[in-house]
Amino acid sequence: MQKEIEAIKKGFEEDIKKVKDKEELKIAYLGRKGKLTLLLRSLGGLKIEEKKKYGPELNKLRKEIEDKLKKIKSLGGEERRGKDLTRPGKRVGYGSLHPLTITEEKILEIFKSMNFSVVLGPEVESEFYNFDALNIPAHHPAREMWDTFWLKGEEKDKERFLMRTHTSPVQVRFMEQNEPPFQIVVPGRVFRYEATDASHETNFYQVEGLMVGKEISLANLKFVIEEFLNKFFGKKLEFRFRPSYFPFVEPGIEVDIKMPGGKKWLEVMGAGMVHPEVLKVGGINPEEWQGFAFGMGVERLAMLKHNIPDIRLFYSGDLRFIKQF
Ligand code: PHE
Repeated sequence: MQKEIEAIKKGFEEDIKKVKDKEELKIAYLGRKGKLTLLLRSLGGLKIEEKKKYGPELNKLRKEIEDKLKKIKSLGGEERRGKDLTRPGKRVGYGSLHPLTITEEKILEIFKSMNFSVVLGPEVESEFYNFDALNIPAHHPAREMWDTFWLKGEEKDKERFLMRTHTSPVQVRFMEQNEPPFQIVVPGRVFRYEATDASHETNFYQVEGLMVGKEISLANLKFVIEEFLNKFFGKKLEFRFRPSYFPFVEPGIEVDIKMPGGKKWLEVMGAGMVHPEVLKVGGINPEEWQGFAFGMGVERLAMLKHNIPDIRLFYSGDLRFIKQF
């Protein structure tokens, strides 16, 4: 018996060195007709003292063989044939939506509950829709409010193209195609050619709003915006509407909020009554129809809601940040 035990030990040590298939090796020793299995079975025919002596020894050997087999990394048939690169990967965990996506969805959900429709527009925009149609002619100093990424390669005197600096051009695009009354929100990515810092990015997201009807007034604007902001922050906020200037609204306002118990006024969006010239460009008679418009920054709202100190975190791809949402 001792001899056979030694033989299996030695044999296994040699086989494991030239192993090609872990499963085959396992079957050869531990399978139903494996070398060690047969030896273990033969214990039955031995005398009681011998059983006592060799039993534990064989069990020890089995344990050793099992452990060694476990240690050699999986050498399945795959190892012999080469890796199958088409095999599905292992799932290491579930991902989640980006905080900006979550914020945008939340914003749209609130406006949809107020009967606004969601409308999209192009990121590459013409000079006309981004500026001229919005009452911002080429010589107008207001163009300096938007540092623009112009697209190269356009012929002289032909229409120029750019990366839209705001979502407002979609106001005019929508007015051209639709009859009032209507109420829309326009989410989307916008671009500004400026230095980045904690509160500026060259690319960020806005949500534009536009409501046109027969008797729309600043009072409607005030109600819709207050309703939206209270719902978005889930708190009863204080509001301040300050006069401001955007060429495509008249009057123009800036909306500030104060959190309950807070000290500082926080600027959250620009807004105003749609300028008669803009309605005209959109094919709507300003004598008959009026409307309000607003535009807000998605990052800005997410930062205020979640106390995020730096806009660049949204674009850092840092999982420690992303996973908190
Ligand atoms: N488009 C303006 C901006 O980007 C925001 C705005 C939208 C202001 C609609 C008034 C009305 O700053």
